[in-house]
Amino acid sequence: MTSDISYIPVRIGTLRPDDVINFDIYIQVGGRYLHYIKNSDPFDGERIVRLKVKGVRKLFIPEEHENFYLQYLDKGLDRLVDKKINVEVKANLVKDAMVTDAENAIRNSQTKEGYEHTEQRMSKIVGYLTSEKGFAKNVMHAAGVSQDTFQHSANVATLSLGMASMVGINSPPHLTVLGLACLLHDIGYSRLAFNPRVPKDRLSAEQIKQYHEHPRSGVAMLSDKSYVTKEVLQLIADHEEIGEGIGFPEKKRLSTLNILSQVLNLCNEFDRYSLIKQKSHKEVVKDFFQDRIGCFPLEHMQFMSSVFKT
Ligand SMILES: [Fe+2]
Ligand SMILES: [Fe+2]
Repeated sequence: MTSDISYIPVRIGTLRPDDVINFDIYIQVGGRYLHYIKNSDPFDGERIVRLKVKGVRKLFIPEEHENFYLQYLDKGLDRLVDKKINVEVKANLVKDAMVTDAENAIRNSQTKEGYEHTEQRMSKIVGYLTSEKGFAKNVMHAAGVSQDTFQHSANVATLSLGMASMVGINSPPHLTVLGLACLLHDIGYSRLAFNPRVPKDRLSAEQIKQYHEHPRSGVAMLSDKSYVTKEVLQLIADHEEIGEGIGFPEKKRLSTLNILSQVLNLCNEFDRYSLIKQKSHKEVVKDFFQDRIGCFPLEHMQFMSSVFKT
């Protein structure tokens, strides 16, 4: 262990039992990084189970091994077409891949190569989602209660992709654009000096003003990147626009936005509702429907209710 290495987090759920790894894995103990598994060592399933039992969710890899890890992650997504793997496992695979991409979204969006790799992973997920009937619902149910912005972004992506593919959006390029925008929609949060994931009545007037700028800040962080499309930027810009002009920053009427925005904005609000209450989507869906009726197309809200009602 040396102090001059930079580490990046990886979700334990993205590591496949008994599969060969070609990167080093570290574990964080008391603020120090301990070498846990060496590149090319067998990573047996027992070790993964033991770590999960201990509540470990994140491991770390040296930043210089990131490309090896990303290749490994890509290979993992190829398992989506493996008929021997059941759909719940595949849905969790998608969720963990989304969280990992959400965690690395800001860094990956800084380079064309990093962004395109994220796009390729999203295309693989979309490809499977559109070819396997019934998978969308599994993906939507895989979203847990968000604990942080990364999990929130991943949840918005899984909820949106599942919902979009079930309300008639079948074009893989459109779904890929939607998924990328979901992963990036709140990157403007990184410019805020306070925690925005609290009920808004706990924020000061100045903080609310800054909070209302986060869609524009997100767009500003990406608008000089030629590889980030206008469609993705527009979805980020509009992601807080709801109802008849009661959202922000432009107070647009939701009915004037395209269907990708309508889906993203509903899933964003639904996941935030669950996050603030720290209850599952299933537990909050009824209250969400009552509290937010009129903010989103009725048929989309009814669809969301039907997915999460018992
Ligand atoms: Fe937001
Ligand atoms: Fe959000």
